[in-house]
Amino acid sequence: MAVLLHIDSSLFPLEGSGSRQVTDAFRKSWEAAHPQGSVIRRDLAATPVPHLDAATVTAEAVPALREELIAEFEKADLVLIGAPMYNFTIPSTLKAWLDQILLVGRTFGEGVSLSGKRIVIASSRGGSYKPGTPRAGFDFDTNYLQKVLGDVLGLPVEVITRELTLTSVNPAMAELVPLAEESARESLERAAESAREHAALLA
Ligand SMILES: Cc1cc2nc3c(=O)[nH]c(=O)nc-3n(C[C@H](O)[C@H](O)[C@H](O)COP(=O)(O)O)c2cc1C
Repeated sequence: MAVLLHIDSSLFPLEGSGSRQVTDAFRKSWEAAHPQGSVIRRDLAATPVPHLDAATVTAEAVPALREELIAEFEKADLVLIGAPMYNFTIPSTLKAWLDQILLVGRTFGEGVSLSGKRIVIASSRGGSYKPGTPRAGFDFDTNYLQKVLGDVLGLPVEVITRELTLTSVNPAMAELVPLAEESARESLERAAESAREHAALLA
């Protein structure tokens, strides 16, 4: 019975959030494909976790909330992260969560094994950062998450990107609406398909 840790960090509710719609599609597909699995939910916008402070990082025993967050991460076979782009990077709430769960000797570093754990990132951004676009190279969200979770922790990371979401509110982007619609469709389809693939791998 596999465990999915479902994290969202968008400021907005499902109807107004590109990333929540993608994580929602993933989760529903996961639950349909793997009904005996379980889901742990963390909504970092509704219930932000505290920033690290000196007392937390110097404590002799891991403080209770940090322990709870790390235990959830350790328990999860699959970690689904809704990661909207705010000011070219991840929300500060998501960074605070990462700071809490990244603990040397526990979740990374010599002798630590997280083998079997897999990560899916649902990224949503108002513009496009594809090669050749004016802001290519300004995306410090998925690049950062891939480096930390993939390269440093050594976990398999899949990124599902939904782009151009601001076309729905910015008339100056009107000509990009068809591309935004295509990106929405593709990301939602890929989320559902990815969840089925993970359910088959983990069942
Ligand atoms: C505070 C804030 C900052 C944003 N900064 C950026 C940005 O730097 N680049 C961008 O392409 N879109 C930016 N956007 C647009 C969001 O990336 C876009 O609305 C995306 O869909 C966010 O995901 P969400 O809908 O799940 O919240 C910003 C939106 C907000 C609210």
